[in-house]
Amino acid sequence: MTAGDVLLSGRGISKRYGGVVAVDSVDVDVAAGEILGLVGPNGAGKTTLVDLICGAQEADAGTLSLQGRPLDGPSSRRAHRGLARTFQHPQLALSLTVAENLQVGRAARRNSRFGRMIVSGLAGIFRTEPADDLRDIETVAAELGITRLERRADALTLGEQRLVEVGRALCQEPLVLLLDEPFAGSDAESLAGIADIIRSVRDRGHGVILVDHNVDLVASLVDRMMLLESGRVAFVGTAEECLASDEMRRVYFGAADDGRDHGVLRRTAEAVTPSNAGPTASGAQVAADA
Ligand SMILES: Nc1ncnc2c1ncn2[C@@H]1O[C@H](COP(=O)(O)OP(=O)(O)OP(=O)(O)O)[C@@H](O)[C@H]1O
Ligand SMILES: [Mg+2]
Repeated sequence: MTAGDVLLSGRGISKRYGGVVAVDSVDVDVAAGEILGLVGPNGAGKTTLVDLICGAQEADAGTLSLQGRPLDGPSSRRAHRGLARTFQHPQLALSLTVAENLQVGRAARRNSRFGRMIVSGLAGIFRTEPADDLRDIETVAAELGITRLERRADALTLGEQRLVEVGRALCQEPLVLLLDEPFAGSDAESLAGIADIIRSVRDRGHGVILVDHNVDLVASLVDRMMLLESGRVAFVGTAEECLASDEMRRVYFGAADDGRDHGVLRRTAEAVTPSNAGPTASGAQVAADA
């Protein structure tokens, strides 16, 4: 996989709930080796867009492709094709242990390999043995700082559940990873761990869509940023361009240029430089500060 190839592409994606247009003719591209940040106020359509890409909700209109081939059908098929996601409200199997939840991700990956091997007629379908699974699960857990894998998921804090969900998604070894507010409820240590993982997924040439309200943090991690407003793309560009845009000010402050001191956006823009592009735990939320 070469950095820069478009992995995931969506055109004219739309979804209406009764009188509410949740996602309105959205075009979206994610390249190999790219993190796309998705920001916007509550109700902007971020989660719905993730749901439509992953197949958790059916779009009213629009087309999706992954690696140039149409991407459709149920979420399980899309997972087999290489999409993995986390949920805004974690959806672990609460009666299972942490290890078993991670194994769910491994199983999805095995199934996808199985399918590919049948198609290509290759031998070695049963190459991935349970022992390998366990080792891989332990590797992912260690990367994320997840310990005590024998705990039941319902004994975990919300932040720990999010972390395990990220782990489950990583165990799928996805082509494109979609993360819906992965940092919410995380302590500073978990936050830094998740941020490192997101970068390493990108550095391995995969694509990431990162949704979060912490504009400061998103900007520090992503290659491009998309601002959604009432289901529509209000702006898309580099993090710097997005933070400096009139659209960003208008969406978060209600005015394109009203002469007020928009300190959070300015400070955030200043923070997004190559020299200090690491994650910040300061968590200046534009919406909260507005
Ligand atoms: N299942 C649903 N039924 C009806 N309306 C829905 C449904 N899901 C989302 N909506 C509406 O669609 C719009 C977009 O919601 P969505 O959850 O995608 O926004 P969001 O950007 O993820 O918001 P938040 O930042 O609060 O998570 C909102 O007006 C929401 O009320
Ligand atoms: Mg949401």
